[in-house]
Amino acid sequence: MSVAPQQSRPIRAQILGIRDYFPARVITNKDMEKIVDTNDEWIVERTGIRERRRSETHETPSFMGVEASKKLFADFKIDPLSIDLVVCATITPDYTFPASACLIQNQLGCKNAFAYDLLAACSGFIYGLETARAYVESGRAKRVLLVAAEKMSAILDFQDRQTCILFGDGGAAALIEAGNDKSYIIDSIMRSDGSGAPCLYMPAGGSLKPPSVESVQNREHYVKQEGKSVFKRAVVDMADVCQEILEKNKLTGSDLKLFVPHQANMRIIDAAAERIGLPKEKIAINIDRFGNTTAATIPTALLDAERKGQVKKGDLILIASFGAGFTWGSSLLRY
Ligand code: COA
Repeated sequence: MSVAPQQSRPIRAQILGIRDYFPARVITNKDMEKIVDTNDEWIVERTGIRERRRSETHETPSFMGVEASKKLFADFKIDPLSIDLVVCATITPDYTFPASACLIQNQLGCKNAFAYDLLAACSGFIYGLETARAYVESGRAKRVLLVAAEKMSAILDFQDRQTCILFGDGGAAALIEAGNDKSYIIDSIMRSDGSGAPCLYMPAGGSLKPPSVESVQNREHYVKQEGKSVFKRAVVDMADVCQEILEKNKLTGSDLKLFVPHQANMRIIDAAAERIGLPKEKIAINIDRFGNTTAATIPTALLDAERKGQVKKGDLILIASFGAGFTWGSSLLRY
């Protein structure tokens, strides 16, 4: 007698939960006025930012990642030994090497996990989520700890008013594991265009231009940005990739419970939201309180929205980013 092979359901991945960590020190726009020639009105009108957080020396991405992860493990009763992989998305690692993810893995006692950093700038969380999803869906990992944390203040030029007002420090940790019918990552679109590299980068400190007296004197260990070029690309590409993933999945903006865009500039967020026809109350916003925390904006804004009751488990959400590289992308999920 022949036995029909059992149809096994494909594994899907979900975000089980997110927790955050922000340094306590608040830097308001008024504080920025004392550092560079700027003013609160300009910053609010051009970016939507009112204040941001600044790390103390010890508040590195690994520190923030560990603190956020400890809350996550406690709240969701996660055994550190059950983690198979730790990914840390950051452009401001504690060291060039070893990876901040290894420091996090050690401090949390995730002894069964391998660990590495992922560099995708403002798209760090979205790229990290895609990485975690690939490991979980393929069965190669059961549980992935995804940290997205930045100490942007370490690489900001506080003599350059065009960049130093934009960024802030902060981090988050997310647990990705097998999903269920109510909670799973539906789809994603990831993009890169390396021709954009000179528009947003840090010129020195890498192997091309190692640290030297000259590189320090020329202030080359700081973020350099062609604000207008980045702005133009971000407005178009982030909106495009949102529209594309909705069309691909036969959805419209009205099907979404929440849109969680990367928090770089309120005008970029508004442009993307307008393109997919979303009202303000369906957009997660924390740029006003935290500025652009690079890889950490999406998980912290999503958690913030959850705390405010804007979204709950099982709701349909769209997340999207644009950042240095250029890197950009969107993911659609039942949260
Ligand atoms: N305070 C006051 N004035 C400022 C200022 C500041 N912090 N920064 C720039 N200005 C001035 C400029 O010097 C310029 O003056 P001018 O007209 O006399 O020359 C004027 O404001 C307009 O500058 P501009 O650069 O054209 O402003 P903008 O509208 O393009 O806004 C950014 C600048 C940086 C806010 C904007 O380009 C931006 O958000 N870019 C994308 C940044 C980003 O998202 N990066 C992260 C990766 S996603």
